[in-house]
Amino acid sequence: MKKILITGGAGYIGSHTAVELWNAGMEPIILDDFSNSEAKVLDRLEEITGKRFTFYQGDCNDKTVLDSIGKAHQIEGVIHFAAFKAVGESTAKPLKYYKNNVGSLVLLLEFMQEQGIKDLVFSSSCTVYGQPEVLPVTEATPRQEAESPYGNTKKICEDILIDYVKSKPGIRVISLRYFNPVGAHPSSKIGELPLGTPNNLVPFITQVAAGIREKLTVFGADYDTMDGSCVRDYIHVVDLADAHVKAFSFLNQQPENFYDVFNVGTGNGNTVLEVIYAFEKVSGQKLNYVIGPRRPGDVVKTWADTTKIKTVLGWQPKYSLEDSMRDSWNWQKGLK
Ligand code: UFG
Repeated sequence: MKKILITGGAGYIGSHTAVELWNAGMEPIILDDFSNSEAKVLDRLEEITGKRFTFYQGDCNDKTVLDSIGKAHQIEGVIHFAAFKAVGESTAKPLKYYKNNVGSLVLLLEFMQEQGIKDLVFSSSCTVYGQPEVLPVTEATPRQEAESPYGNTKKICEDILIDYVKSKPGIRVISLRYFNPVGAHPSSKIGELPLGTPNNLVPFITQVAAGIREKLTVFGADYDTMDGSCVRDYIHVVDLADAHVKAFSFLNQQPENFYDVFNVGTGNGNTVLEVIYAFEKVSGQKLNYVIGPRRPGDVVKTWADTTKIKTVLGWQPKYSLEDSMRDSWNWQKGLK
């Protein structure tokens, strides 16, 4: 069985990807420092798959941990999730973000070179497109100046990968540009575990519905959109996880020194209010929300053109927005 190193494999997207990799006949080796995840995720992964995954607790910026993994296992590929992702915090602490997000990628590439590991899937983000002029967003849509140090780390990491592959190190890389990941595993055993007050819409919605927060503020309803609220492309985390598996299978058939980038979204844009209504429908309860001022720096509308990932990787999403809301809500209800 192929062993795949998943950095950040106990996190939200990483844990779901570990399950899908296992289902596809690959063995995840997880590295995580629990800075934004919990040890019980490993138990949950075992409950879902029946397999206790090999786990290393450590920082991806610590070469000694990577080296010990390399000594113990014949790693065939890497999926690099480990990164900080709070946009606001990145503005207050940019060095923390550059050091962690950019530094860990450089170290990981050195590790891969030393170990002769060829394949890498990198977590990028639709944040690299900023507010696109033409919608939907294709992979050829120009990237824009980043709105935050977090967004800039994704752009810089993509550029590092392009330069590195050009230097002919014999590796094959895919960057996946995620749109807005939502939902949870249908088993309700794994899902998103936001630290403190959630920044993102869907965990905020489920926490309001669970009585943890009083009300949701919709950040602006006076935009030039269908109902005035912002538009995003909300992709179920299991579909997103599956995109990583498809990316791996594809990389394996490519020549050495390969780099490409794919959008991962549903291809549909939904407004904040539509997300609220979908949640109300599946949960059977009214959500306490108010319309508030715009959030500075928000993109007004963005959604993915998914033609490339569908035709080249043979991937397509299976879950609807309502499925995502149902799974997020079931996950929230199971949290103590
Ligand atoms: N929103 C609210 N109220 C809230 C939270 C969010 O109305 O309490 C709205 C936002 O204004 C936005 C939508 O819900 O219109 C989605 O907001 P999120 O914060 O969930 O997601 P963003 O699209 O703003 O941010 C996401 C990722 C970032 C990434 C960014 C751009 O969380 O990491 O996409 O790609 F940088």
